[in-house]
Amino acid sequence: MFDVKRDIKKTKSLSTIPVVMRRLIETISNDKATFEDLSHVIEHDQAVAEKIVAMANSPFFGHTGMINSIDQAVMFLGFDLVKSIAISTTVVHLFSKTEARNLTEFWAHAFEVAFVSDIFSKKIALTNGGVCFLAGLLHDIGRLVLYLTYKEDYKGIMFEENLMEKETERFGVTHSKVGRWFLEDAHFPEEIIYPVQFHHSLEGLEKHKGLAVSVLLAEAAVKKIRQNIAADGIYNDDTEELLSAIGFNEEDLKQIEDALIKEEENIKMFFHL
Ligand SMILES: [Fe+2]
Ligand SMILES: [Fe+2]
Repeated sequence: MFDVKRDIKKTKSLSTIPVVMRRLIETISNDKATFEDLSHVIEHDQAVAEKIVAMANSPFFGHTGMINSIDQAVMFLGFDLVKSIAISTTVVHLFSKTEARNLTEFWAHAFEVAFVSDIFSKKIALTNGGVCFLAGLLHDIGRLVLYLTYKEDYKGIMFEENLMEKETERFGVTHSKVGRWFLEDAHFPEEIIYPVQFHHSLEGLEKHKGLAVSVLLAEAAVKKIRQNIAADGIYNDDTEELLSAIGFNEEDLKQIEDALIKEEENIKMFFHL
């Protein structure tokens, strides 16, 4: 059996989670943070800064070539979009170009869960949409960590049905727990760590319940409404009960599905730039 907790610490690419990512999370988690604060953090990471300006100038927004500073780009794209681009860029940069491309479905899944978590969080008390989106974006980070650490051993099961069972069989641990270890090592705030650790089961959850429920429901709902091989949620009666407890029904899910379809272009741009 593998000693996963020890092995992930030795994976070199993972030890370089950029400082900018941590600073971004602090800024995003702070309700009082302003556009200036966000621009200030982004300016310090060349890759992120370039991507944000490129995104603002993409034909999708119809302002090609007109945006030439971070401040302008941030104002134009809006807080939510900018923070997602920034976070995804820093995570994508852990991978080589070819690897990142192989994981397109995975990124699309991460984005879908983030998007839906944000929608659910609006119906749940004591949740912060920004933090929730971010926790959603990182919810399956454990899968990436396992992939980077054990490539050949993990590749074969990464997109399989009953993923958690297979992970437990092979590695003695699931990606939820690995995600927790990784984020802990990288000094992420609890608001992100808890929803990531409990995104498949709330058993034993003591803190940040609203956030965890939002991400858990998003993971399950995305499995039902999206055909994506990377979707690893399980949609069952419990999911349905929880969903109706926060006021969602089949009809609402249909609307979320439509919203996600509209986002498809955005998603592609996120991970292909
Ligand atoms: Fe998952
Ligand atoms: Fe997932």
